[in-house]
Amino acid sequence: MASCVEVFFWLLMILLCPWSHLLSCGSSDLFQPDYLMVPVSEFSSSLETAINAIQNVTSTVSQFSHVSNDFHLSNAISDCLELLDLSAELLDWTLSASLKPDDGFDFRTWLNGVLVNQDTCLEGFDGTSGTIKSLVEERLSQVTSLVTGIRDTVHLPPDSMGGGRNPTNHEQTFPSWLKHEEKKLLLQPLDKGSADVVVAADGTGNFTKISDAINLVPKHGIDATVITGNRNAADGFKSYKSGTFRVKGRGFIARDITFQNTAGPQKAQAIAFLSDSDLSAIYRCAFRGYQDTLYAHNLRQFYKSCLITGTVDFIFGRSTAVFQSCQIRARKGLPQQKNAITAQGRKEPGDGSGFSIQFSHISAEPDVTAANIETYLGRPWKLYSRTVILQSYISSAIHPKGWLPWNGSFALGTLYYGEYMNFGPGARLDNRVSWPGFHEIQDPSVANKFTVAKFILGDSWLPSTGIQYTDGLQV
Ligand SMILES: *[C@@H]1O[C@H](CO)[C@@H](O)[C@H](O)[C@H]1NC(C)=O
Ligand SMILES: *[C@@H]1O[C@H](CO)[C@@H](O)[C@H](O)[C@H]1NC(C)=O
Ligand SMILES: *[C@@H]1O[C@H](CO)[C@@H](O)[C@H](O)[C@H]1NC(C)=O
Repeated sequence: MASCVEVFFWLLMILLCPWSHLLSCGSSDLFQPDYLMVPVSEFSSSLETAINAIQNVTSTVSQFSHVSNDFHLSNAISDCLELLDLSAELLDWTLSASLKPDDGFDFRTWLNGVLVNQDTCLEGFDGTSGTIKSLVEERLSQVTSLVTGIRDTVHLPPDSMGGGRNPTNHEQTFPSWLKHEEKKLLLQPLDKGSADVVVAADGTGNFTKISDAINLVPKHGIDATVITGNRNAADGFKSYKSGTFRVKGRGFIARDITFQNTAGPQKAQAIAFLSDSDLSAIYRCAFRGYQDTLYAHNLRQFYKSCLITGTVDFIFGRSTAVFQSCQIRARKGLPQQKNAITAQGRKEPGDGSGFSIQFSHISAEPDVTAANIETYLGRPWKLYSRTVILQSYISSAIHPKGWLPWNGSFALGTLYYGEYMNFGPGARLDNRVSWPGFHEIQDPSVANKFTVAKFILGDSWLPSTGIQYTDGLQV
């Protein structure tokens, strides 16, 4: 009789764990999600190995954090440590979510986010030389191949998420962790006024913390609350950390704030705002700068009714971001410069990142055209750069070719640039670039892939921010 029970037991295991190696099928494998190509147990143990590898790299890199008196190198090291820390967090999120069923569609974004961090860490060492750089490179490449392997065992998110909702009727339900006063603040009507407090970490202003000042300021709105800074590459801040304002973590919300970098066009790269926050939502904010104003660095981001100004590559990064109903305005920089509105950094086909600009107004300030400065919609920072412009106004300030090469023929066959149902004098397509990667999108089902519902799976997280949005192609 005993053997009968045993046979029954094994049969049950086979029925419950059809994809799994019989002996490794534990209770957590009972929830084998269909977005994974490997058993959950294998997925989790690969994640644990990757977390371990990141810890190893971290301890290698941190050995150098006190030895360098080279400003550039020590910045690169501290940026890298911060990025490794973010990566460990992303792997932790993935690991804990993998132990629960039905939580899977974030995995690819999170794992890809680790790869983005890896590359940003390495970029920090560009222009430095010596053993530290090559040691870091070697250690990081082990993590990169581990994590790439894990990412590619996760299927792409289902294409059917979210469609068919009434876009303008999202309830204003706020995250449970918001305090009552914070909800009131988010619901306040826009009101312009002059800024009247100064926040300085060194104690020379009215406050040392931004949050203390924001609690006190009676008036909110673009250019009423201004967060300002002027760090820049020309003065030695080449690093990822040089932005005026940086945010990481999950679920960042901002409203009615201006973020600016006042370094000016002579100072080269000068970031006003950098976001690493997954599921971040930014509403009615302004980003003012020149080169590299807005660094949409990593993970999923949504910008609604924002003003973004700059010169070279002023919206750049490797996040998956939708810009909806934004005003995007090129400014006058240096005479020999060409303006590129975007420089998206998608690096390989498995990388899900890209920029989608929808219902927006794209133009340049009058002195740009007066000075004959050419302005383009974007150029390919990395090999698989991906940007689409949907249903937007494009002014005559945009060059008829539309898009600018990065360096010779680099990326022209692998990038994906698309335009769909845009209007205005700069939207004509007859003189656009003829690169293999450029697409005049005519099929709405192709355009639909770049909407809030599909591209950033917004219907699963934007309603909780209280920010109104359109999830598809219809207003
Ligand atoms: C991390 O370092 C330890 C100790 O050097 C080593 O045993 C282990 O294999 C390393 N793990 C990974 C994933 O590299
Ligand atoms: C901030 O500091 C300035 C200069 O010291 C002062 O004039 C102003 O009243 C202060 N504002 C507040 C709200 O304390
Ligand atoms: C441009 O491409 C050429 C040829 O591929 C390469 O040698 C050069 O370093 C590149 N220049 C820049 C600035 O990337």
